[in-house]
Amino acid sequence: MDMKLQGKVALVTGAAKRLGRFIALELGKRGCHVAVHYRKSEKEASETAETLRALGVKAEIFKADLTDEGQVKAMMDAVAQTFGQLDILVNNAAVFLRTPFHQTDAATWRSIMDANLTSVFLCSRYAAKLLEESEGGVIVNISDTAAFSPWGAFLPYCVSKAGVIALTLGLAKILAPKVRVNCVALGTILPPEDYGENWRQEMSEKTLLKRLGTPEEVVQAVLFCVTCDYLTGAVIPLDGGRFLR
Ligand SMILES: NC(=O)c1ccc[n+]([C@@H]2O[C@H](COP(=O)([O-])OP(=O)(O)OC[C@H]3O[C@@H](n4cnc5c(N)ncnc54)[C@H](OP(=O)(O)O)[C@@H]3O)[C@@H](O)[C@H]2O)c1
Repeated sequence: MDMKLQGKVALVTGAAKRLGRFIALELGKRGCHVAVHYRKSEKEASETAETLRALGVKAEIFKADLTDEGQVKAMMDAVAQTFGQLDILVNNAAVFLRTPFHQTDAATWRSIMDANLTSVFLCSRYAAKLLEESEGGVIVNISDTAAFSPWGAFLPYCVSKAGVIALTLGLAKILAPKVRVNCVALGTILPPEDYGENWRQEMSEKTLLKRLGTPEEVVQAVLFCVTCDYLTGAVIPLDGGRFLR
């Protein structure tokens, strides 16, 4: 339990599994009530909510395709109706797709921008009023240090994540002083499930610290963004120093 977070309401996007789930559960352990957003992973979202309730906090699941403005707006209305407030928004949901440049068309480019960048704009836009009404509203965006040194085979992903950083800086200005907006830019933490041990090894070698990060370290950085009252417009690289190489 954390006195600062006890009774706050957090919405975590893409919270059914993987990093979003870790973030949601840690916020719950600290005493936050949690709105668990999902798109397709209903079963896993329900399990996340169930685990949160067992911790003694309120938790409900909310389904939305975050590329759809109407669905985002409806989700924020439902969150307001269910919890009566929103204090913390973690924009975590995203897609990660290999897109070799010469084989990537406009539809693919747009779908990645929509999933990774427009979604963050829409969630922030429709959560802003609730966050402004909170005593200390905060947004944490999840980006990637590949935004600083884009990978050729993932260009739309990298550009979308660079957009998330620019959006963080802009939102920090627009929403100050009521709402703080920060970003954690990750290196490789949890590789996609179909990536093998060789790839993990290769990625570890590319960092200064010679290992991948852990979900617990991501959670630590997110919590710092949430709880440090003088922090806004910050972009925290959490990649074991990979972006410096
Ligand atoms: N994993 C890593 O090592 C790593 C590295 C660098 C950056 N990051 C960033 O960290 C965050 C979490 O990473 P992750 O690997 O845990 O994520 P992930 O498993 O790839 O995706 C998280 C969730 O995003 C949701 N999502 C995707 N498109 C959506 C849409 N259009 N509308 C609504 N929800 C959508 C999916 O929900 P459903 O399953 O419910 O459809 C998915 O479960 C992401 O922003 C990612 O880019 C991760």
